[in-house]
Amino acid sequence: MENKFEGYRQILEKFEAEKRLRSIPPDRTEGGRIDLSSNDYLGLDSIATELYNDFWAQNGASMSSSASRLLASKQSEHSALEKLLEELYGKPALLFNSGYHANTGTISALNIPGTIFLTDKLIHASIIDGLSMCKAECARWKHNDLSHLRRLLQKHEKSSERMIVVAESIYSMDGDIVPLEGLIELKREFPSMILYLDEAHAFGVRGEHGLGMAEEFDLISEVDLLIGTFGKACHSSGAFVIASPLIRSYLINTARSFIFSTAIPPANASWTRYMIEKIYKMTGERQKLNEISKDFRNFISEITGTANPSQSQIVPLLVGDAEKALKIARDLDKEGIDALAIRRPTVPPGGERIRFSLNASLSADELNKIKKAIRKVLLKNENQFS
Ligand SMILES: Cc1ncc(COP(=O)(O)O)c(C=O)c1O
Repeated sequence: MENKFEGYRQILEKFEAEKRLRSIPPDRTEGGRIDLSSNDYLGLDSIATELYNDFWAQNGASMSSSASRLLASKQSEHSALEKLLEELYGKPALLFNSGYHANTGTISALNIPGTIFLTDKLIHASIIDGLSMCKAECARWKHNDLSHLRRLLQKHEKSSERMIVVAESIYSMDGDIVPLEGLIELKREFPSMILYLDEAHAFGVRGEHGLGMAEEFDLISEVDLLIGTFGKACHSSGAFVIASPLIRSYLINTARSFIFSTAIPPANASWTRYMIEKIYKMTGERQKLNEISKDFRNFISEITGTANPSQSQIVPLLVGDAEKALKIARDLDKEGIDALAIRRPTVPPGGERIRFSLNASLSADELNKIKKAIRKVLLKNENQFS
């Protein structure tokens, strides 16, 4: 019965008709192209060979953990990485296999009776999936709107034992940042509030030592659960949660993505530790990234004639239409620039955009080439952005 697969084909055809059918792009690492689509914010890919050679000369850790953390005999590299993170953040750390595992596992574990989650409207899909996996009671506050959050806190204070407020420190699509000081003030005002902060796009990038926005605001100790990922600026993969000893122990016992999945390879944990020691000192790269991001944001505002929401290295060019966004991305591709069109379901309908993800290794010549290409492509596609 071939038609048992028909329903899946119809869904793909619908995606195609709505210009949101996605496919894995081809390898684009050859031939002088400029990559503005990945999250290598410190530009470490440009020195990857040097780093790998240096790392492997001193390391022989295993490429497989062969079991989950609760069963594995190979623990020393994971423990060393957690110890380093604990020294940096001043609170215990627990490793997860990815940011997706960290958010789905942690959010669903935190959902016990008496809990309500209050989440920013633009939080990442991994948090949304965590909430739906455990059928959490949840209300959303308007993006970065603390007065709306305050009203929700007041509304739910009496009926809940704990109100878990979830935010990201740099939002992955608009590149704007969290009003962290305001969130901490709300935490003081509402004693049953727990603050959960996903620093995926700020780890390695913000704060003097790259520990994220909580470090930049000098508020690390005030954040109850801080999530960081290694797959972006840190040039590795995996993720961590920073929390109190109690919550760490609770997650070890209850977070299903931690318990029921093979741990990251020891070699990966060792490499991540090597990379964190490097990025900790990359103040110059962070400063450069900050400067080029500011310049690029001004450029995009000027060329579009509209204010840009970004306050970081992630800079959107809002287009508002899937077909137009695809066309602009294809034209940029022809100019040797990789900046992909972002469509549903990553952004809501009307939020289609080109997302430029800047990195610290971009030279002045490359930035000029990027700006020239954007001008040319936008002129060609005339007013096809808002
Ligand atoms: C805010 C946020 N959290 C978590 C993740 C997932 O992290 P990972 O890619 O390590 O699964 C992402 C990925 O883009 C993200 O943007």
